[in-house]
Amino acid sequence: MTPRSPSLAPARPPGFEYREIKHGIFRRRREYVLHCDDVPLPRLAQKQGTPLYVYSATAIHERYQAFDAAFRDIPHTICYSVKANSNLSILRLLARKGCGFDVVSGGELERVLRADRGAARRVVFSGVGKTREELSAALKAGILLFNVESESELWALAECAGKLRTTAPVAFRVNPDVAAQTHPYISTGLRKHKFGVPIAEARMLYARASGVRYLRVRGVSVHIGSQITDAAPFGEAMMRVADLVEELRDDGHRIDYIDAGGGLGIAYDKPNSADFPTQAAEYARSLSAPLQDLEVQLLLEPGRSIIAPAGILLTSVIYKKANDGKRFLVVDAAMNDLIRPALYGAHHEIVPVTQKTDGQAEMETADIVGPVCETGDFFARDRKLPVAEEGSLLAILDAGAYGMVLASNYNTRPRPAEVLVDGDSVKMIRRREKISDLMRTEV
Ligand code: LLP
Repeated sequence: MTPRSPSLAPARPPGFEYREIKHGIFRRRREYVLHCDDVPLPRLAQKQGTPLYVYSATAIHERYQAFDAAFRDIPHTICYSVKANSNLSILRLLARKGCGFDVVSGGELERVLRADRGAARRVVFSGVGKTREELSAALKAGILLFNVESESELWALAECAGKLRTTAPVAFRVNPDVAAQTHPYISTGLRKHKFGVPIAEARMLYARASGVRYLRVRGVSVHIGSQITDAAPFGEAMMRVADLVEELRDDGHRIDYIDAGGGLGIAYDKPNSADFPTQAAEYARSLSAPLQDLEVQLLLEPGRSIIAPAGILLTSVIYKKANDGKRFLVVDAAMNDLIRPALYGAHHEIVPVTQKTDGQAEMETADIVGPVCETGDFFARDRKLPVAEEGSLLAILDAGAYGMVLASNYNTRPRPAEVLVDGDSVKMIRRREKISDLMRTEV
């Protein structure tokens, strides 16, 4: 049963929902308990401790299917952006669906190969600073496409391919000079940003690349930023790319792929309320409209839109305190576990794991903060929540993307464990770090 709750009803997509639990001999004591798939979160907290990242395989599956279905009318390959969440078990789960991958480092490539060696032919490699070592590793693995971001990188790639007597499949990542509404740190498609090559210089660069024996021009790529919820800028960038593709073809280049990058945002302030299939369909329409008649394979690099809503960070309240009337809930997770609020001022919904069934929860307003010694270590400020006690569990929602991958050991805090829930089965997919792990590499 899905209850009325302050912020999580109705629970969509499946993955995290409240279910009624009856306690006591006569089962008269009832409460709503947040579950991940079929598993109550308190059980996970008891077994694995907190803070704990919890992912729903059902939610990952649903988001992936919906995204894929949105593009059903156009030949496409989804190359999940590994940077959003790179846990091997999650990569393996996606690889089993035939998903490809967008990587930005030798480390991410290695993860993909570990998860599924055969996925190499569905890998695209982006990034402004790929080293010769990384380029060579990707050439050896036989990836689908290098998204080259400068002329210097092009020559480095040619040199590596020449040494290996192989041919590198090349796209230039073009910077379309399109503005997108998002946090300035994650907007990438303007002239002033470090990414890509100016679209005006692209023809000249393709001409240079096409003369080189160890390079083969295959596509054009673009990525305008992340957490963009309006479909229009994606369409605008794609229009510029489509014009470029026609020009390049007129120049005699073979363009088989357009890589549209990632960036589709989610509604952090209204978890589960957005109808993802509708949102994805609108995004797909915007991207594909300019590509009609171009006969290209569209590559897509979603990260957040697939994995963010499929994960939560489970944390317990250590202490409650009030300083001059200002209330704080000090929880056992901190900015080192999930840095998005501290780094981008990002909003994450926070909900109690157990709630009374009468819907009459008493509310209080507090800052939810971690134990790290910085004022920036907060998850929410002046947030209204049902009254929590010391020991209560809270769930920080939409933490599946850019959560664990950005975690650090600041304040010598071991990073959390991660569990993947599928129906009623629970798999620990990363053990909690021990303090001794943190000192292992020091000499
Ligand atoms: N492709 C490229 C070339 C990218 O740079 C990115 C993200 C993606 C795909 C995936 O974008 P997505 O679909 O996840 O929006 N740490 C920030 C987000 C950084 C995004 C970096 N690039 C955050 O927590 O909001």
